[in-house]
Amino acid sequence: MTRRAIYPGTFDPVTNGHVDIIERACQLFDEVIVAILINPGKNPMFTLDERVGILNEVLNSRFKQARVDTFEGLLVDYAAQQQAHAIVRGIRAISDYEYELQMALMNRRLNPSVETVFMMSSEDYSYVSSRLIKEVFNLGGSVSGLVPDLVIERMRAKSKIK
Ligand code: PNS
Repeated sequence: MTRRAIYPGTFDPVTNGHVDIIERACQLFDEVIVAILINPGKNPMFTLDERVGILNEVLNSRFKQARVDTFEGLLVDYAAQQQAHAIVRGIRAISDYEYELQMALMNRRLNPSVETVFMMSSEDYSYVSSRLIKEVFNLGGSVSGLVPDLVIERMRAKSKIK
């Protein structure tokens, strides 16, 4: 049986914390689908297509078991459609836990056959979030080492267009 997991998120942009979780998930599961939520309301820095492109470039060369997809609607419905056994979520600090617990329990209620697996990223990235990356970058600070180099390249390209 292929053990398949979904790693869902917004990934605007993908951080080294996300990549670290994907790497760990690839050691536990045969297939990891990195699933980007289609959420037009969120006004992201990168379009959905740009995020798919960045994630593909970052992951394809490194992780054979990972693939990138997009989804809309309920995560548990998408997980069932993909015949996934687990949803992977990264937990950084205890502050993440409350929201993640709510989502995991709601998802369990919606579909008891999909298990949520919490994973801890390396402590090197425990304070890294997409939101802070964007804020620091936009204010001229260095985010080197916290996101893949490709993300820095793409953020620089975007800030030049503005
Ligand atoms: O990277 P994020 O923004 O923390 O990811 C949040 C995400 C995409 C996992 C969450 O918003 C989600 O699953 N949305 C899909 C809609 C859904 O299923 N909502 C009910 C969750 S209990």
